[in-house]
Amino acid sequence: MNTEDAIRTRRTLKVRVDPEHPLPVIKGDEFMKTMEELIELGAQAPFHYESAESQRSGSLQGIEPWRFHALDGDSCRKVLDAFNQNKPQKAPDGIKQMLAAADGLILGTWLPERTRKLSKKFHPNLKNMEHIAATGAAIQNILLAATARGLNAYWSSGGILRKPKVLQFLGIPEHEILLGAIFLFPDEIPESAQTKTGKHAESRGKISDYSDWIKM
Ligand SMILES: Cc1cc2nc3c(=O)[nH]c(=O)nc-3n(C[C@H](O)[C@H](O)[C@H](O)COP(=O)(O)O)c2cc1C
Repeated sequence: MNTEDAIRTRRTLKVRVDPEHPLPVIKGDEFMKTMEELIELGAQAPFHYESAESQRSGSLQGIEPWRFHALDGDSCRKVLDAFNQNKPQKAPDGIKQMLAAADGLILGTWLPERTRKLSKKFHPNLKNMEHIAATGAAIQNILLAATARGLNAYWSSGGILRKPKVLQFLGIPEHEILLGAIFLFPDEIPESAQTKTGKHAESRGKISDYSDWIKM
């Protein structure tokens, strides 16, 4: 698939199944390799500023402003098991239904500049804005690469996955800010599953609605 086709055909697809009857995990190491390829392609996105050195954690010492934490299908089901037992906290049905269907989940976070105000996770300054922009570009690359591979994907804000208790449960440093929970769903969707497209999928306007020429 060429770039333009990937851009034009990429569309959100959410797949949900009964959290008491999750789909069997059939994709193994090969799919983990695919997920790593997607992340590596994601990270070809442009970025302007390096992440603050003091905000880099553990073995993830890259200068990039983003971090990607990946869960394979098996780990998605383990998180679902925990949520089914209300651990680390009660979760809404929607996220459980998607964890019951997903082949994988990529959590894309960005590293804010260090802030002295503990009440604020980040300052609305230029550097942070550009860290978010770069991470958004990396997530879009992942979606396009997924589309090119025929994978169904959904960029979610994360909902309950954003909660400090849940991030801690997943081992994600608490100063990292979740920008996208990218669900990867099976390409062959079983009859037991419900599917839903993105709510704005059909509401894009014409170019003249959001773009103009500056004539000097
Ligand atoms: C930053 C970001 C966060 C999003 N979060 C959600 C979300 O939490 N729930 C949701 O239903 N869709 C979410 N979406 C997906 C949009 O609803 C979807 O992209 C939009 O409806 C357009 O549909 P399309 O992706 O098929 O073009 C998010 C998209 C972006 C860019």
